[in-house]
Amino acid sequence: MDMATAIRTRRSHKLFTGEVVPDRLLAEWVELATWAPNHKFTEPWRFTVVPHRALPSLVAAIGRALQAQSDLPAEKSRAQTDKIAAILAGAGGAIAVRQSVHGADPERQREDYAACACAIQNIQLAAWAQGFGSYWTTSDAFIGPALDVFWHKAPGEVLVGVVVLGRAAVENKAVRYKKPEELTIWLDVPEIGV
Ligand SMILES: Cc1cc2nc3c(=O)[nH]c(=O)nc-3n(C[C@H](O)[C@H](O)[C@H](O)COP(=O)(O)O)c2cc1C
Repeated sequence: MDMATAIRTRRSHKLFTGEVVPDRLLAEWVELATWAPNHKFTEPWRFTVVPHRALPSLVAAIGRALQAQSDLPAEKSRAQTDKIAAILAGAGGAIAVRQSVHGADPERQREDYAACACAIQNIQLAAWAQGFGSYWTTSDAFIGPALDVFWHKAPGEVLVGVVVLGRAAVENKAVRYKKPEELTIWLDVPEIGV
């Protein structure tokens, strides 16, 4: 698949076939993530890989975290756990991207966060180019503090997202409301008074 096609046709997927994503592909997508742009070579990305065989542990950790949430009625926490368990039952693996700590400079932190977002996009596009769908989640159920231990998140690190990966079971249609022309200013026309 060429790059333009991968970019245009990649969609978020949550319905997967249950096919295992081989470790070698998860490792390859992590390696490709590390080629993302990053300012000052901070290489801020850290990864926690959940191969298919570890997905039940993720479901269990999420279930425990939701159950322990005091503001959530038991019925709701069960329903949310079941929903996530159903998604992960079809998934083939997952990769969490953690942003490492490089001091307290807010500009550095913003740049590192942006770099980690690029790394996530690399994972999603690399997976898609090899026929695997994914979605990026920042849902509290996945990245809330109750999951810090599961993800091996070090103090001060930021969980930028979890990418759930698998062979897509359905074709998802793109939703785009805005045309590029509506979003773009071209500066090739000389402006009077500038
Ligand atoms: C920072 C970020 C956080 C996201 N968090 C979630 C999420 O928690 N749950 C979810 O289902 N999708 C999440 N998404 C995926 C978007 O909802 C999705 O990309 C969007 O609907 C556009 O659809 P597409 O990916 O198919 O183009 C997130 C995307 C980004 C960039």
